[in-house]
Amino acid sequence: MDRERPVRRLLTTGALLLLLLGAAADTVSLPIRDARWLPSERLFQGLSTQPRECLRPAADEAERQAIAVGRAAFSAPLLLGGQAARAGLSCASCHKSGRGNPDFSFPGLSAEPGTADVTSSVMSSHRGDGTHNPKPIPDLADPPRLAAHDRKSRALERFIRGLIVEEFDGREPTPAVLQGLAEYVRAVDPKACRSGGLEPVRLEAMLTDARAAVAAAIPALHQGDRATAVFLVGAARSQLGRVDERFSLPGLEPSRELIRRSDSQLAAIAAAIRVGSPVASDQIEAWQHGWAELKRGLKRQEKRSLFSPRVLRRQLAS
Ligand code: HEC
Repeated sequence: MDRERPVRRLLTTGALLLLLLGAAADTVSLPIRDARWLPSERLFQGLSTQPRECLRPAADEAERQAIAVGRAAFSAPLLLGGQAARAGLSCASCHKSGRGNPDFSFPGLSAEPGTADVTSSVMSSHRGDGTHNPKPIPDLADPPRLAAHDRKSRALERFIRGLIVEEFDGREPTPAVLQGLAEYVRAVDPKACRSGGLEPVRLEAMLTDARAAVAAAIPALHQGDRATAVFLVGAARSQLGRVDERFSLPGLEPSRELIRRSDSQLAAIAAAIRVGSPVASDQIEAWQHGWAELKRGLKRQEKRSLFSPRVLRRQLAS
């Protein structure tokens, strides 16, 4: 990914590790990655709830597909590169459910919680400006400050590409992923906000997101856009990874085994797509069939997992 910059990478990896180790001291008993950028007094709230998404419906099938691609990419750490990817950050780490994150607190990036410096050299070998100037993370459902939402100018696409490639050292996104992200951001609409600010973080919703990422890969595959399809299968795998974290407790091995099997099917699908194998479509169909069974299996142990607020609270107290 950032092969050309080995020295820089070594230095910043070391620096980031130190930062993370410092931060991890009081969160070490929690296997959940999102805990790394939450101050300890906000862990329970930040891990058990999320803002409601404000997504307006698509006007047509093409827009629906673009939003689905963008929505999956938005929470995939593999979209970003370098330090961000290694730490597991995605767009959604800062813009939870396409909104904001008033608790976001990342050593070296944030000042007070809810702020981030997106021109920090911790994350970027391109744009690091050497100064620490964290800004409040905007709620994307607030009326956009960027005039960029206008489709014709493609300014939003340029802005997002700059974030990925320059701020976060990511690889060049495929055209479909970039367009998808812009359409997703455009579809986050204050008028689509339902009442009630927060909703619980749910197993079922995370599994549905994994399924939606895989479903979005099918049209990409049919259009011969293998790079986007592989990316989306990867996005589904990172969603399963987020589910797996919540089952990382003693006694929940049967659930983790189900996740592991589902994940290795996805790995095989990605490999098949990569080499252009015609069996990829059948493998996707088989995975989709297995999805309901995966969900049933995990539901059996959900109450004992870190999806349960009671278990989460107990774990935090220990
Ligand atoms: C480390 C936290 C962080 C991550 C990760 C992040 N953002 Fe942001 N985002 C911010 C901050 C902070 C701002 C405000 C920057 C400013 O005011 O100059 C912002 C601004 C934006 C805006 C402009 C909103 C407006 O109305 O001005 C959009 C759109 C956006 N981000 C989308 C994304 C997308 C898409 C990704 C993933 C590729 C992403 N962000 C990843 C923190 C983040």
